Amino acid sequence: MHRAVISGSGLYAAPDLISNEELVAAYNEYARRFNADNAECIAGGEVAALGPSSVEFIEKASGIRQRRVVEKSGVLDPQRMRPRLTRRPDEALSLQAEMAVAAAREALANAGRTAADIDLVICAASAMQRAFPAIAIEVQHALGIAQGAAFDMDVACSSATFALDLARQNILTGAARAVLIVNPEVCSVGLAWKDRDCHFIFGDVATALVVERADETRADERWEILGAKLATRYSNNIRSNQGFYSHCEDRDPDDRDQYFMQEGRKVFKEVCPMAAEHIAAHLADLGLQPAGVRRFWLHQANIAMNQLIGKRLLGREATADDAPIILDEFANTASAGSIVAFHQHRADLQRGDHGVLCSFGAGYSIGSLVLRKL
Ligand code: COA
Repeated sequence: MHRAVISGSGLYAAPDLISNEELVAAYNEYARRFNADNAECIAGGEVAALGPSSVEFIEKASGIRQRRVVEKSGVLDPQRMRPRLTRRPDEALSLQAEMAVAAAREALANAGRTAADIDLVICAASAMQRAFPAIAIEVQHALGIAQGAAFDMDVACSSATFALDLARQNILTGAARAVLIVNPEVCSVGLAWKDRDCHFIFGDVATALVVERADETRADERWEILGAKLATRYSNNIRSNQGFYSHCEDRDPDDRDQYFMQEGRKVFKEVCPMAAEHIAAHLADLGLQPAGVRRFWLHQANIAMNQLIGKRLLGREATADDAPIILDEFANTASAGSIVAFHQHRADLQRGDHGVLCSFGAGYSIGSLVLRKL
């Protein structure tokens, strides 16, 4: 058996920034027009008037202050309310692959690796922009990785952590020597920007990780993966019905269920205890206690969720040092969130320190990895 380490990470932040103020102004203009256009139906009680969104609500309910997206003019256009993307020729690199490649280059440089070293590429994200060919194979090709295999996988917000476990297993068994994981999360295309209950939630980023054999790494900073624990439990509380069957069901692209939907309160109540118990059980399996963990890189959906999970684990308020928050800057970036937190908040840890990476989200799905800095 080999030992598996994370030897590099990378982050690509989408180019356009939307502040809460800009987002709320665009939504409120959309709502004003909707209410004016439907005044009669609203007066007759057939249609409900749209209430205004507010910056105060968003910041209090979620902790999100801004988000980055691949294209903002379409999102902020009250007539459109979705990103304006240009169709690319089949020969051109896809948007998702382009973002993944940018993050991958940083992760490879970080790990002191080149395309010649990678023998498995996994693209793990909460949605793929097309059915085939796999985005991972496109990334493999774009980076000039001439050997090995590549494939896509989707476990919603837990895609990255589930991929990390898969990479770990490939390293442990010797099936692969060096694995590149990419997480291009373009959440803005699936977000219902016309729904004030969720229009503030998501942003776009790509992250990347290199996982390889401990005895072959060249990187100065290495994180051994001591263990992984994955769990799923079916729930409809986070869902999108958009997919490759939609056009055959003669769906109107504007149907509400073609976008992200959630029962936010139920998700909050059900997922927090599940995630805290999951992490505590995982640590116990490895003979560790939450108090002995130097850092928790948690999924980044909502600041109150992370505070609650931190408190349940530590028996006290978790500080920004215990469990850093990046969602204020990036919003919820699906499976990439905990990887962004890991990428930005790990350099200050000492050799021998333990950390926990944990995702939780749609499915429900929870994935945790216990790491130790070598
Ligand atoms: N601006 C102003 N008011 C708003 C609003 C907005 N943008 N969005 C909702 N409201 C209103 C609601 O209509 C509701 O009004 P009511 O009490 O009159 O019915 C009130 O504010 C409370 O809304 P609610 O949706 O219950 O708020 P919340 O405190 O549950 O916060 C979330 C909403 C989404 C931030 C929160 O539930 C959450 O983060 N849940 C978990 C999300 C998650 O992790 N999802 C995983 C996705 S991968």
